[in-house]
Amino acid sequence: MIGRLNHVAIAVPDLEAAAARYSDTLGAIVTPAHDLPEHGVRVVFVELPNTKIELLGVLGAASPIAKFLEKNPDGGIHHICYEVEDILAARDRMVAAGARVLGDGQPKIGAHGKPVIFLHPKDFCGTLTELEQV
Ligand code: CO
Repeated sequence: MIGRLNHVAIAVPDLEAAAARYSDTLGAIVTPAHDLPEHGVRVVFVELPNTKIELLGVLGAASPIAKFLEKNPDGGIHHICYEVEDILAARDRMVAAGARVLGDGQPKIGAHGKPVIFLHPKDFCGTLTELEQV
């Protein structure tokens, strides 16, 4: 069912420093930082030939990555995102398989303006997993 790896999201304590590390040291193409207030993050996209890396910085007191950064002060891989063709069919398949969909179980509009769901890390090898309809 899942298709391409859409992105790997890395939470970072200092977004500008992380963006510079990717652009200057690794020689990657990075986009300017922009705020996603509805998601509580400030994000930089690292454009790779076959996928993207999202560098996530905290935005606002209720940021969903604040707790993650408390536990991982140097930053770390926060989630991975796979593409699916039909988010509702994917959601139903996850529920039928006994996997936990986070939140109220309804797809939300994600950072790329497309519907997404998040799956409980304990059900997917300890990794917070996002499915995005493309
Ligand atoms: Co994501």
